[in-house]
Amino acid sequence: MTHPDPTPDAWRAVDRYFAETLVGHDADLEAAVAAQREADMPAIEVAPVNGKFLHLLARMTGARRVLEIGTLGGYSTIWLARGIPEDGRVVTIEAEPANAAVARASIDGAGVGDKVEIRIGRAAEVLPTLEGEEPFDLVFIDADKESNAIYLDWSARLGREGTVVVVDNVGRGGAVADAESTSSQVIGTRRGLAMLGEDPRFEATALQTLDAKGWDGVALALVVRPGAA
Ligand code: DHB
Ligand code: MG
Repeated sequence: MTHPDPTPDAWRAVDRYFAETLVGHDADLEAAVAAQREADMPAIEVAPVNGKFLHLLARMTGARRVLEIGTLGGYSTIWLARGIPEDGRVVTIEAEPANAAVARASIDGAGVGDKVEIRIGRAAEVLPTLEGEEPFDLVFIDADKESNAIYLDWSARLGREGTVVVVDNVGRGGAVADAESTSSQVIGTRRGLAMLGEDPRFEATALQTLDAKGWDGVALALVVRPGAA
């Protein structure tokens, strides 16, 4: 049976099917999610199919240095760290020290602790301290949506020509299409997308997603002219 307009039961079944068929199960990743739930952190880590997407993107791009903005409990961090070589680095920024402590334990438990540096603080304050380091090859933006434009600006500044940038949660249950929205998260998301459309440093697109977390979306950008701001 096909569903011209997907019902929740139908798309959830497809997500489960994709996840079971292509992602499977992993004790360390599942432990990271359990630790996050135990610590009463919000259940907003990326869906398994999205975690694997980030992991594959790291491998496909040959990324050695990854920047993650928004660590939460380290679930996506572990996926990314597993996608880079032994001498690679994920620098991940988390505003909430209690989250960072949970993430640190899960990341170490997954055996990728040596590849992951957690910087604690507001990303807008931490990002300028990364200037002068080797450029990042891949950036994953998944923090407060209000600051997406600031994070995109830093992605270009801390990147190079060819750096790949992924922005989580650009669909927001459809709310992103509402130009009159008064939600600060929607306004921030739209500002980031407008920047990706207009800023000569980026070429970008976005895909809607329907996965374990519901209807959302992911933007994918390439840094083409890092110095063109
Ligand atoms: C929210 C944030 C996220 O990063 C996410 O993946 C889902 C929801 C939020 O703040 O609402
Ligand atoms: Mg997110």
